[in-house]
Parts: sequence; C-alpha cells; structure tokens
Amino acid sequence: MAGSANLNVMMKTARKAGRGLLKDFGEVENLQVSAKGPGDFVSRADRAAEELIRTDLMAARPSYGFLGEEGQEIDGEDPTRRWIVDPLDGTTNFLHGLPHWAISIALEHKGQIVAGVIYDPVKDEMFYAEKGNGAWLNESRLRVSARHRMIESIFATGVPFGGRADLPETLQDLARIMPTCAGVRRFGSAALDLAYVAAGRYDGFWERGLHAWDIAAGIIIVKEAGGIVEPLQPNESLLESGQIVCANEPIFDTFAKVIRKA
Ligand code: IPD
Repeated sequence: MAGSANLNVMMKTARKAGRGLLKDFGEVENLQVSAKGPGDFVSRADRAAEELIRTDLMAARPSYGFLGEEGQEIDGEDPTRRWIVDPLDGTTNFLHGLPHWAISIALEHKGQIVAGVIYDPVKDEMFYAEKGNGAWLNESRLRVSARHRMIESIFATGVPFGGRADLPETLQDLARIMPTCAGVRRFGSAALDLAYVAAGRYDGFWERGLHAWDIAAGIIIVKEAGGIVEPLQPNESLLESGQIVCANEPIFDTFAKVIRKA
C-alpha cells in the first residue's frame, strides 16, 4: 500500500532500528555464556534503539512530541501530535535469545492513534495501518480471523512475573478462559500479540499492566483489520489504563464477558 509521508517515515525508522537491534541480537548468544550475562548489553541496545528512533522521527517532524519507553518524553511545538514508541517490545525474549520481539511506533493526533507500525526484524514482518486505509503486513492486506466459536479460538495474553500486583487477576482470568477455548499463548511482546490478532493468527488478546508504548501502534492495526479493541474496564482510557481486551468482531462480546468477570 502507498502510505502517507508520516507512515513512510515510521516504517523507514523502524527498519533502521531493526537492523541495529538484529546485530545486537546476534551478540546476545555469545553473552549468554559470559560471566556478566547479557543484561546490561540489552539495556544499552534498547536505549540506543530509542535514541536512534527519536532522532530520526524528530528530524523528520520537528514539531511533534515524543513519548518513549526508555523514559524520553518531549513536548512538541504542536501539542496535538506525538510519537509513542517502544524501541524493543519483548525485552525478556531478546535477553534470552528468543526470536520474538518488535519495534513499535505510533502517531497520536488529538488523543487518537492515527497510524501505527510494528516491525519484527527477525521475520522481516512489517505490520502497519493508518486511519481509514486498512491494515497491512508487508504487501498484503490484513483481516482479523472469522472464527466465531470460542472453543475453536486461540487467545494471547501476558502473564506478569511473581510479585507484580496484577498476577492474581491474570491467574483467575486464565482459570476462566482456558476451559472455554482451544488454547492460550504467551509468547511475549504485547505489540506482536496485537499484530497477530490483526493478522488472524490469534482470535483475541487481553492483558493488564501494559503501558501506552506497548499497545499504541497495535490498537490502530487491530481496528483497521476489522477487530474490536477496548479497555478492560469500559469507562477507562485505553492508553492510560494499559488494560486491554481485543478480538475479532464475532467473538468479542463473549470473550470480553469472560475476561471482565474478574
Ligand atoms: C513487555 C512485553 C510483554 C508484556 C509485558 C510488557 P517490554 O514489554 O510487551 O509481552 O507481557 O507486560 O511490559 O518490557 O518487553 O517492552
């Protein structure tokens, strides 16, 4: 699809950051066996990727604001537009040499996400969408799945580490949802979870405790692929609460009902 100038900037930047992170990912394997381990190295790679993305986006659109996972928050001259960026979503996977992580870049305008890009450099999969122009994976149009039976559906989620406040709720969610469906997956990377719902690989996704940068790009990609995305508590703000439930249209109500019973 021929995207807008903004979308082209986002995709070019994601690819560039992806090339750097892919090189770093190659190093992680060597570091696994060293005494220090790859922890510091991965944090540095994450920060360097955010720096590169911020520099390129701000050079292309100097008036826009910027919010990044690594703590960079810049108010732009234009208060209505800002980039929301996760330079490396799926850091734990990256750290362990698991090839499932992505770069997520969204553009917000007047509080609404209007464009999103999620790039998986390992598989060279570029998921992207712009308001009103559909969702795409590389050159192919995306569509959420058409499954309408819970028992045939696969859902993704994120399971928090021990000690995180939302762990008990997530375990209760799992106890309710697992008997109703064909399976639950936890590959990690909320951004890719959302991209996979848009691609019809998963039928739905829910998670608590996320941040705006984990979900901003995915929200528009799922919506433009025909899916429904809502905050877990209907009266909350999706980006601020970080609690999300999404699915294809035929299954959304049933799925959301099970998850919202918590
Ligand atoms: C994490 C991933 C993970 C999700 C966590 C997020 P990060 O983001 O998206 O899948 O379960 O809640 O924090 O830290 O790898 O950018």
